[in-house]
Amino acid sequence: MSTSIHSLGRNNFGDAGNAGRLMPIEDAQALLQEWVTNDRLRLHMRQVAAVMRAWSREKEGADENTQLKWELAGLLHDADWEKYPDQHCRIIIEKLEEMNLDPELIRCIASHGPKYFGVEPASKMDKMIYVFDELSGFIHAAALIRPTGYEGMDVKSILKKLKTVSFAAQVSREDITDALSRINHPLEEIILFIIEKQKNVR
Ligand SMILES: [Fe+2]
Repeated sequence: MSTSIHSLGRNNFGDAGNAGRLMPIEDAQALLQEWVTNDRLRLHMRQVAAVMRAWSREKEGADENTQLKWELAGLLHDADWEKYPDQHCRIIIEKLEEMNLDPELIRCIASHGPKYFGVEPASKMDKMIYVFDELSGFIHAAALIRPTGYEGMDVKSILKKLKTVSFAAQVSREDITDALSRINHPLEEIILFIIEKQKNVR
């Protein structure tokens, strides 16, 4: 993320009365279709969405509506990045507030980069999107340079690449470390989970 991104300057999002109100996944996909032309960025959001949904189901035992909430957060977290780079996050948040959607969904998107947006991750969903965002992109970058892509990719090779500062240098190792310090899951578990859940996302 570029440092030109501004802090959101607030800490409350949405309306408590809208708890549980979500949009169908097809509507979120249509919004992306309209706002994002970059295929790589679209794929990134679909990958984070798949990982978020799978984590909520498999690790948190979430019900269907909660799974959709995690998935929507992943799918929409960078929706405004291409069109409004200087107002990244603010535009999509305001859009979701106008649509009267669940405040937890909106807050999750607002907290996916605490250093940039000035919003601390609070819920497990907030913390996991922060963990998955940079690592998902990093693992995809690793897949792109492998002749076999995700096929045969192991956790060890990703750990090694994380220590290679010149590889995918734009991915902040500092953010990854900070994000991991907020949860009780080892890096190895997270990497393995991401590889498995995003390798078949197209
Ligand atoms: Fe992202």
